[in-house]
Amino acid sequence: MTSVKDAFDLTGRVAIITGGAGLLGVKHAEAIAEMGGFPVLLDLNGEKAEAHAKAITAAYGVQSLGLCSDITQAEAIMAALSKTLDAFRRVDILINNAANNPKVEGDMGSQHWSRLENFPLHVWNQDLAVGLTGAFLCSQIIGSEMARRDKGVILNIASDLAVIAPDQRIYRRPGLPEEQQPVKPVSYSVVKAGLLGLTRYLATYWVDKGVRVNAISPGGIYAGQDAEFVQRLSNLIPLGRMAHQDEYKAAIIFLVSDASSYMTGANLIVDGGRTCW
Ligand SMILES: NC(=O)c1ccc[n+]([C@@H]2O[C@H](COP(=O)([O-])OP(=O)(O)OC[C@H]3O[C@@H](n4cnc5c(N)ncnc54)[C@H](O)[C@@H]3O)[C@@H](O)[C@H]2O)c1
Repeated sequence: MTSVKDAFDLTGRVAIITGGAGLLGVKHAEAIAEMGGFPVLLDLNGEKAEAHAKAITAAYGVQSLGLCSDITQAEAIMAALSKTLDAFRRVDILINNAANNPKVEGDMGSQHWSRLENFPLHVWNQDLAVGLTGAFLCSQIIGSEMARRDKGVILNIASDLAVIAPDQRIYRRPGLPEEQQPVKPVSYSVVKAGLLGLTRYLATYWVDKGVRVNAISPGGIYAGQDAEFVQRLSNLIPLGRMAHQDEYKAAIIFLVSDASSYMTGANLIVDGGRTCW
């Protein structure tokens, strides 16, 4: 019988994190390193991924790799897997984290492009390519390696917007005509809901291969957004605030470690209560 503490331990486990150089990707990597694991940060921005990997090694004393990889391209993922296996001889965890996450609440001028009627097909295609096709390809290539070894964990990073519609009122900007009011793009909801389908499909597909697959649906993280937006969003959240940047780390460790050994095909909602209102 493993102790509760040991169930959360990740000593020597290798975790590939897509979008590893982004805001949350780095936090996932830090959490894994803190638990003794070896994070591999995959990102379009290879320099940033490498710099973060070095900083993680310095701070936590574990090996870490930063790799330049475009997860919309199967060959690039295969190359990243091969470098990971060269360095560590194994991969235990895949976190499908990369996604386009347009900040429509930011100061981006006229936002009418985000409205459904005008939403450009090339943006839709690109958002699906990164958030959904990228997660599929990484699961296919890296998940298959774990299935071959009869052990592994995949964690898909969804969003509270995987389970509820965006409340477009929080993105409104004063003085703009209705048809120019910015909205959270339709592609974001579709990508995130799609990830939940991918989670359930893979969980049952690989159930006999020792590969567990779950999703987490985090709520919005405070990262310097304008005060009015933050207030409007906070009003929709029972806990009355956005999440702190480090606040998902423990839930991530739960889901990628043996602590969640009796969990697969699930979606853990960590949203300050937003979806229960
Ligand atoms: N930030 C939030 O408030 C929040 C809330 C809920 C869910 N999420 C989800 O968490 C995840 C991370 O969000 P974030 O805020 O850290 O985003 P971010 O924009 O800071 O990071 C995304 C990273 O993905 C990388 N990326 C983009 N396209 C890529 C590609 N083709 N190949 C490899 N890397 C690519 C980017 O270079 C970037 O470093 C996303 O899935 C997002 O939807 C974020």
